Amino acid sequence: MSRIVLGDSRDIVNYPENVALTITSPPYYCEKDYESDYSFDEYLDMLKSVLSNTADSTIDGGKICINIADIAAFSKVSGRVEEYIGVSRDMQEWLREKDCYLLARTIWSKDDPWMNSQHVGYHDKIPATYVRQLPSYEYIWTYYKKTPGREGIGAVTDHLSKEDWKRWVSSVWHIRSVRANDDHAAKFPEELVRRLVLLYSVPGDLVLDPFCGSGTTAVVAYKNRRDYAGIERNPEYHALIQKNLAAVENCLERQFAPPPRYKLNRLF
Ligand SMILES: C[S@@+](CC[C@H](N)C(=O)[O-])C[C@H]1O[C@@H](n2cnc3c(N)ncnc32)[C@H](O)[C@@H]1O
Repeated sequence: MSRIVLGDSRDIVNYPENVALTITSPPYYCEKDYESDYSFDEYLDMLKSVLSNTADSTIDGGKICINIADIAAFSKVSGRVEEYIGVSRDMQEWLREKDCYLLARTIWSKDDPWMNSQHVGYHDKIPATYVRQLPSYEYIWTYYKKTPGREGIGAVTDHLSKEDWKRWVSSVWHIRSVRANDDHAAKFPEELVRRLVLLYSVPGDLVLDPFCGSGTTAVVAYKNRRDYAGIERNPEYHALIQKNLAAVENCLERQFAPPPRYKLNRLF
């Protein structure tokens, strides 16, 4: 049963039951409009409660994929030039308390930062040796709840071609970020979500995004014959999600989504 809720993902009533896969990208604490109301402590509390709710809604063997970057501009919290790498570590601790364990770390390698970041510069006002390297990558942390596998859904060879498996089992993914962020400031590339959907769920599964944004997770889940659930607190983005879902209704990708059985791939 698919649905998108306009509401706050800190509130457990907004969550469905029996989530098989979560693919989400929380705010990164990097001064975007949609996170400006959180102090740093409120931000951490918010993340903790959303991950707790997500874990409670997830079936045993279900997966939780969290895309996040380190905080490169931590100066607004610490008062000095500094990067902060603690949030990913905190998330691991909070999820372990909920019986969820790290299964995989993916590096999402993106465009070079000098192309579009205001935080790096090459000019004669920059002192020698004060050279910043901004990360041109983000993480995808994939957790499982209680058990890494699930009963009754067949083998990996039933659902994933060997070609896709070979490409995606490598933990560095080169995918360009979305350049046309005109309707939402931080959209997932569809390809990133597609790989996670095909690796970590099977047709008919329920796929959740508690920070739904423009609805990329829901759109890609739908195209690949999964059910979807989303939570988004901004009414404009909530309307955007409905629009993006309407645009793919009965689309060809859904009709020609990969067949469930790939046994012939054992030939190569
Ligand atoms: C990084 S964006 C997600 C973008 C999404 N991955 C996409 O492809 O469009 C984070 C989203 O979380 C939403 N958000 C922030 N705090 C929230 C909360 N407590 N409950 C629900 N949504 C929240 C923001 O409005 C924003 O749209």
